[in-house]
Amino acid sequence: MVGIAVLGAGRIGKIHAANVAASKFARLVVVADPFAEAAATLADELGAQAMTDCEAAIDRPDVDAIVIGTPTHTHIQLMLHAVRQGKAVLCEKPIDLDMAKSLAAVEEVERLNGRVMLAFNRRFETTFAQMRAAIDAGDIGEVRQVIISSRDPGLAPEGYIEHSGGIFRDMTIHDLDIGRWLLGEEPVELTAIGSRLIDAAMMEKYDDYDTAMVQMQTGSGKQCHINNCRQAVYGYDQRIEVFGSKGMLQMDNLRPTTLRRWSQDATDAREPLLNFFLERYQQAYKAELDAYIDALVNHKPMPTTVQDGLQALRLADAAVESVKTGRAVRL
Ligand SMILES: NC(=O)c1ccc[n+]([C@@H]2O[C@H](COP(=O)([O-])OP(=O)(O)OC[C@H]3O[C@@H](n4cnc5c(N)ncnc54)[C@H](O)[C@@H]3O)[C@@H](O)[C@H]2O)c1
Repeated sequence: MVGIAVLGAGRIGKIHAANVAASKFARLVVVADPFAEAAATLADELGAQAMTDCEAAIDRPDVDAIVIGTPTHTHIQLMLHAVRQGKAVLCEKPIDLDMAKSLAAVEEVERLNGRVMLAFNRRFETTFAQMRAAIDAGDIGEVRQVIISSRDPGLAPEGYIEHSGGIFRDMTIHDLDIGRWLLGEEPVELTAIGSRLIDAAMMEKYDDYDTAMVQMQTGSGKQCHINNCRQAVYGYDQRIEVFGSKGMLQMDNLRPTTLRRWSQDATDAREPLLNFFLERYQQAYKAELDAYIDALVNHKPMPTTVQDGLQALRLADAAVESVKTGRAVRL
């Protein structure tokens, strides 16, 4: 049994803690969060201990591995604290919002042979994983284009936008990771555009965008298009198309059921889409955690690495640069 500490008892920490508690191969030892009530409530619910000091939770001898679900600016410090003690880490995205700090952290993780997995949960979602497997099996021949539509159901509150690092480092980062993963080659050129169509005043205040498009091209000419919007009135819109020399793969949105209705007013009416990431990617978070524990128990390589985290951040930074300069960025 792997003894695990979950750091952060917020939105994502709750998901990770419940998945650790449900694992046959791990024990949720402690939930740590400086907000004592949040730590105690979650720990009590799952039969673990509660602590308010995240570093003290990592130091415990009964903790072998940690899951970092704390705010982004705390990731590097907690990750390095664990790695220096030889403890494994599943770290939420992004590593950090700053490239220089992330590079230095990754350099130390690699120098110490640290076992760190970056939480790009979508790679573990059933349909995403099937897409990658179908490409690997040659079902669509050579990949030519990847088209990703990824839109949130509603604008996040101002307090979130203020610390998010901007649409590209916070939201697009997932799609940038999936784009390079499905392309199977590193992008060498990126162009992006950003607009303020939902709340121009708030976006201007934080030098951010609510609507964006990114285009990437690999060395051999494979293309990827990503479109993001922070508000889609019909729900959390997550669709992908991969076009290849011998065919095409499409991933559609998920709904609570497959019920379809016909009436005088509408035909083929279906239920709304699963509301947001906690529902849409519920299975993916569990599969991601299981993959982490499997790597630990069976001494396998981490399925996603700090290099994946760095590369996604590099692409996000390039998107910001491209929007600001109006030019394509060579990577
Ligand atoms: N992979 C995904 O799909 C996904 C989804 C949501 C969030 N995230 C990432 O997870 C992280 C947390 O996001 P969230 O939405 O759960 O945030 P949240 O605000 O809901 O939760 C963060 C928790 O951390 C605690 N905290 C605050 N300051 C802290 C500190 N200095 N040290 C330790 N803990 C502290 C807070 O009390 C809170 O309980 C972010 O890095 C975010 O980018 C990833």
